Amino acid sequence: MTSDDLPPAASDAATPQPWTGLSLDDQRQMLIALVGFEFGQQPEQQVDLIRASRRRYAARFVRQAGINSHHNVLEIGSGCGFGTGLLAQRAASVIACDISPAYLDYARQECQQYHNIQFRHIENRSLHGIDDHSIDAVVSISVFIHLNLYDIYWYLLECHRVLKPGGRVCFDFSDEHMLFRTNLLRRQRQAMQNQVFLQHCQDYRSDHHQLFALLQWNSEEGICQVAKRCGFRRVNRYSARLLLSKR
Ligand SMILES: C[S@@+](CC[C@H](N)C(=O)[O-])C[C@H]1O[C@@H](n2cnc3c(N)ncnc32)[C@H](O)[C@@H]1O
Repeated sequence: MTSDDLPPAASDAATPQPWTGLSLDDQRQMLIALVGFEFGQQPEQQVDLIRASRRRYAARFVRQAGINSHHNVLEIGSGCGFGTGLLAQRAASVIACDISPAYLDYARQECQQYHNIQFRHIENRSLHGIDDHSIDAVVSISVFIHLNLYDIYWYLLECHRVLKPGGRVCFDFSDEHMLFRTNLLRRQRQAMQNQVFLQHCQDYRSDHHQLFALLQWNSEEGICQVAKRCGFRRVNRYSARLLLSKR
């Protein structure tokens, strides 16, 4: 690739903040930021399919974290609330947090029928306002995939503070060791991941302000070392999801 193939660098002015700069009026953009173009160029016409897909994915976290009807669950990065509804059905209560006011508004509407969810606006890396030792399980779905190791460190420290002893954290992450490998069993997924990486290389070059909306690549070992430092032990990993337990 020559430098002529690369998109021009964006100007610094008037660049909207990823996640927090979104507006509830622009549901297409919110959904694209959530699922990319997996559901086509007009995802607002596919909301039922997107909801079903996000709920199926959330169900894996519920199973892996062992969430039951006695648990108080904290969700970091609830997005449109598609997975939050499922958490509310399976747990006693849910605190759903997000840094984006627009996503929180969407999720409030999406989850109107559930009376055991509290929505909270949070600042990045902080769970301020959530009581110490009040939470049984923290779930974060397709959020830590966007976090660098510094963010992960601060969130894990905060998770440690709010979790009860033995409480669990379950999140997915972008595994740098999965990139450009020859994986005969998961060829399609591998190809998709490589393609996303290359696309994000382009996106980063054309507008580095979008960094926090791009995937951030980490290693399981690095995350687990940081988690240990924050007072967690690794329980298991399934696919790209890690389960940690408060020591
Ligand atoms: C890809 S969406 C996933 C939403 C939802 N969990 C799902 O699975 O459908 C990422 C969400 O995380 C939120 N988010 C991004 N960075 C965050 C951060 N540092 N702390 C908390 N939430 C964040 C975004 O505002 C967005 O709602």
